Amino acid sequence: MRKKIGVLVSGRGSNLQSLLDHIASGELPAEVAVVISDQGEALALQRAAKAHIPAVVVERKACKDKTEFESKIDDALREAGAELVVLAGFMRILSGFFIRRWEHKIINIHPALLPSFTGLDAQGQAVDYGVKISGCTVHFVDEGTDTGPIILQKAVPVLEEDTEESLAARILEQEHKALPEAVKLWAEGKLSVAGRHVKIAK
Ligand code: GRF
Repeated sequence: MRKKIGVLVSGRGSNLQSLLDHIASGELPAEVAVVISDQGEALALQRAAKAHIPAVVVERKACKDKTEFESKIDDALREAGAELVVLAGFMRILSGFFIRRWEHKIINIHPALLPSFTGLDAQGQAVDYGVKISGCTVHFVDEGTDTGPIILQKAVPVLEEDTEESLAARILEQEHKALPEAVKLWAEGKLSVAGRHVKIAK
């Protein structure tokens, strides 16, 4: 049986689309069981609908506190039978309450080569700093911000004429390869975590 994943989104959903495309082409042996958005207007929800994937909107402002918000997300994931949570442009920090429930079962895609440029606007931070190489990182989520064990990274050059937008577009192309690749490794049971290190079985 194909492994089930739940994808958390907040916006455009191009990484969700990449997962769906890799599943449709047979390259990724998994199934998106549910898409959960904290934004009712997210383009990602239209992508889910087009692919006939169940979608749930959980708005923070409709919940009395963060625990209720995260409990609703947790419930939706469990109802869908998700075995892995993929953060694909989900713009909220999850608390220890949620992360401990899904230990080593949440992965995130970040648009920089961690540990450089954590947090928001990683591409702008890279341009401002003047690095010559940046990229993207797929990692397991721990209780820090963008600090969890790294699964894989892909590098891109930073050009002198780059703006935040042009660099973001170059990195995004690599994100669309890295995320399905990491989810595939997980779906094939090839990932194990030992402290900070993720081992990939051959
Ligand atoms: C991506 O750059 C991702 O790395 C970051 O947020 C962006 C989401 O893009 N976490 P999309 O919604 O997948 O198009």
